[in-house]
Formats: sequence, C-alpha cells, structure tokens
Amino acid sequence: MAEPNVEAAPAGSAPPQGREHWSGQTAFILAAIGSAVGLGNIWRFPGQAYENGGGAFMIPYLLALLTAGIPILFLENAIGHRFRGSAPLAMRRVHRSAEGVGWFHVAICFVIGLYYTAIIAWSLSYFWFSFRLDYGDDPAQFFASQYLQLGEPGTLSAHIVPGVALPLVLVWALTIAILALGIHKGVERLNVVGIPLLVVTFGILAVRALFLPGATDGIEALFTPDYSVLTDPDVWIAAYGQVFFSLSLAYGVMITYASYRRRRSNVTGPALVVAFGNSSFSLLAGLAVFATLGYLAHVQGVGVSDLQGIDGVNLSFVTFPAVIAQMPGGQLFGAMFFASLVLAGLTSLISVMQTISAAFQDKFGWNPRTTAVAVGCVSAALSIVGFSSSTGLFLLDTVDQWSNQLGIVAGAIAMIAAALWFGRRGHELERHLAAVSTIRPGRYWPALVNVVTLLLIYMFMSKAISLAKDGYGGYPTWYIITFGWGTIAFIALVAVVMPWLRWHKDVEHPHLWPSRAQLGLPDRIGVKATERYRPVPRNDDGETP
Ligand code: PHE
Repeated sequence: MAEPNVEAAPAGSAPPQGREHWSGQTAFILAAIGSAVGLGNIWRFPGQAYENGGGAFMIPYLLALLTAGIPILFLENAIGHRFRGSAPLAMRRVHRSAEGVGWFHVAICFVIGLYYTAIIAWSLSYFWFSFRLDYGDDPAQFFASQYLQLGEPGTLSAHIVPGVALPLVLVWALTIAILALGIHKGVERLNVVGIPLLVVTFGILAVRALFLPGATDGIEALFTPDYSVLTDPDVWIAAYGQVFFSLSLAYGVMITYASYRRRRSNVTGPALVVAFGNSSFSLLAGLAVFATLGYLAHVQGVGVSDLQGIDGVNLSFVTFPAVIAQMPGGQLFGAMFFASLVLAGLTSLISVMQTISAAFQDKFGWNPRTTAVAVGCVSAALSIVGFSSSTGLFLLDTVDQWSNQLGIVAGAIAMIAAALWFGRRGHELERHLAAVSTIRPGRYWPALVNVVTLLLIYMFMSKAISLAKDGYGGYPTWYIITFGWGTIAFIALVAVVMPWLRWHKDVEHPHLWPSRAQLGLPDRIGVKATERYRPVPRNDDGETP
C-alpha cells in the first residue's frame, strides 16, 4: 500500500495537518541535486576554474568542498531534519531569537528568485532561437541590441521588452503552478523528471563536444595547472564562494528540503551523494564548455586563451551561440545546451521559491496553493517590471553582486552563530546526525564548522570593504546605493520585521525525535552531558506525530 505523503494527516483532509514529505530518499536526493545543479555548475564553475589557476584550482575547490561545503551541508540538513521547519521556523526552534536569521535567508531567496527567472526566460528564448539560428553572425549584437534592447548602464528604463517579458511570464506561471501542487506532486515531480532528463541531455552534449576538432586544446587550457595562484587569497575566496553558491548553502534551501524528510531518514549519506553528484556535474560541465571553446578557438585559428567572454552571461548568450552557428548540426547542439540551462535553472528556482513558500505556510498557516499564488504573483510582478525592462541586465548584475557575494556570506555566519554559538546546539545536532544516519559526522564536525566561520568572516569583510571602496562595475554611486546596498538593507529589514509578526500556532514546543534524553543529553542546553550516549536504534518506535 502506498504510504500517505503527509505525516499523520487524517485521510482525505485538506489542508494537511502535518508536514508534507518526500515520497522517499531518492526523491529528496534528486530535489537537493536539482537545487544544487544550476547555472553555477554550467557557466560559473568552468569560468571560475579557468580564471583561478586552471587545474590548480581543483586543490582549493576540493578543500573548500571538504572543509566547508560538506560540513555546512550537514549542518543545514541537521537543522532542517531535527527542527522540522522552514528556515524561520527551524531557526526559531534552534534559538528563540534566531527566527530573523531564517527570514534573512528567505529574503535573499526572494531577491534571487526575481532575477534567476529572467535568466531562465532568456534561456527559453534561446532554446527557441537555436532551431533557426536566429542569433546569426553577430551574437553579441543580437543579444544586446536585438534581444535585450539594452539601454544605458546605471539608468532605469520603464521600457518593457516584449521578447523578454513573454517567456518570463511563462516561467512564472509554471513556477506558481508547481509550487501550488506542493512538495510531493509539484516540487518532487519536477525534479524526478527534470534531473534525469538534464543529465541525459547534458551528457550527450558533453560527449558531442569532446569529439569536436580542437576539443583537447580547450580541455588542456582548463586543466593546465598554475600552482602560483595557491598563494593568492582571492583564489581561495573564489573556491569557497563557488562551493557555497553551487551547493545552495546558506539560502535556507537545504534546511527547508531536509524538513520534508521523514523522521527516520538517513541524513548524512544522501547529503554526501548530493555534494559529490553536484561536483561531478560541475566537472562534466567544465569538460563540455572547454571542449566547445577549444573548437571555437580552432575555427577562428586563435589560442583558447585569446578567447573572450568565457564567464557567465557572455559565455552562454554570446560565445556559445557563436559556436553553435558555426558548427555542423549546431541547431540540435544549441537546443540541447539551452534546454539544459532551462532545466538546471528551473529546478534551482523551485528550491528558492519553495523556501519562501514554506516560510509563509509555517508562519501564517496558509496552504501551498494560496501561498504559491500570493508569493508568486508579487514576485512575478516585480520580476517582470525590473528584469524585462531594457536596463534589466544591469540591475541583475548589481543585485546579484550584493545579495550573492555579500548577503549570503552574512547569512551563513549568522546561521552558524545562532546554531553553534548562541543556541549551543552543536553537540545535539552532531548526535542527531549520528543517531539517524549511517555515516557519522564525527565529534570534530562542529569544531570544523567553527573554524570555517572565521574564514567566512574574513570573506565578508574583504568583500564589503572592496564594494564600499571601489563600488562595482562602474555604476554611478546613487545606483550602487539604491540597488546594491539597498538590497542588503531590504534583506536586513525583512529579518528584523518578520519575527515581530505572530505565528498562527504554538511553535515553541516541537516534538523532537530522537529526544535530547535519547541522545544522552541533559534537558537544559549548556549543561555538560554526563550520560553516555547510546545511539538510538534505527527501528526504534519512538516516533509520535
Ligand atoms: N546552486 C545553484 C547553482 O549552482 C544556485 C542556487 C543558489 C540555487 C541558491 C538555489 C539557491 O546554480
């Protein structure tokens, strides 16, 4: 008999009384991979690796993955699984005063959702253009003038570009529909279909790329190590930043997704699968992208290092179209590339939006459908006005820089400080993971997270100082203050205001399983454990709804 997908929900009742959950471990893993694998893998990783020492970048990258990525992924999974809530609810249960940290994460997700959709919308357009090679001989001109109809940087335009607005509306409609269907029927289904499809599509594309003439030169350019970069702190910051963004850490996403797992779930094992699966996809993308760039250099008769536009927006919307237009069978290759961007983007976007939706459901007791429509319509309106206008690209660039480079680091520090320093939950979370998981995190795990936090603080300071001193991208000061620092101010405001609003029910006394006693911990936090810890038997029937 199929198990119901709502914990302890009376049959046929709606809205559900308990928390929704994934149909199983595989569904969770696919959804978490769906969040992790995104534009960060396809366009950010190859560019970052290339610019930061090529093959030598793998050293800081792997170290960042092992010392920060996986430990903090464990932390978020532990918080979400033990305290069973969206970011604000789980953080409030971690420490009474930490609810704002969760809202901080939610606000960052809100900001990111506004422009992540725009990039998916562009990819959708380009998927369509690929069949007729609309971007033609001059993809740079096509992208800037014909498609985006770019205005002046550092200004605001009310001119909505229909070619961008239309796909954007489609993306929002799809997103709202998926969110409204809830975890099991919406988010899970999207990922269970989307992620295998993405892996197959991108896999075929990568194999095709490897057989292009010049492919080996491209790969050589990516992996030729420049060890001298290892002494450059910026390279290390880039590696840690890449790991954070790529694993969707400190966005509240993993807390939210883990909260939909059943109580008796193996937590660390799947987290490792997600971490290594995500990095494998990055590596595959690095190979595919650089093999293709090798081909472009070959066709143009230049070296790979002479190519321009290897990172981000330019890589996908200018350089790749240039290759596609010149390649035999380019239409299909192009369609597969942009379909991959759409799929990878959509599964990440859903995780961001679900993080927001879950927070409102928990706080106000709304059902998924109402929340999807409310959150989705507000976001869609702002997103369309801001990002389908002819100055949307510059706005995107600025908002992304502040929210993703600065906001997120602050969010990570605050989460760790709340959980380990003020909430003093390190021991409890470590024992929780050990009790439910096959792979134990080890006693030194909280200490490792503490050490990494020092690095995060350094990252935050250096980024904040450089943004304050040098500004960004040559934009005028009023623009940077309004949309850069203004974004941070908005996120902080949400974090301060939302905890003042009332919860729709008592959230202070969660049923924790395993209980602190079962974990061998005294009732009160901060009292040293005397009792020896006995792992909770995995088939213990201690669970009550
Ligand atoms: N991890 C995604 C990527 O690599 C980006 C993302 C960040 C998604 C935060 C969700 C939340 O592109």
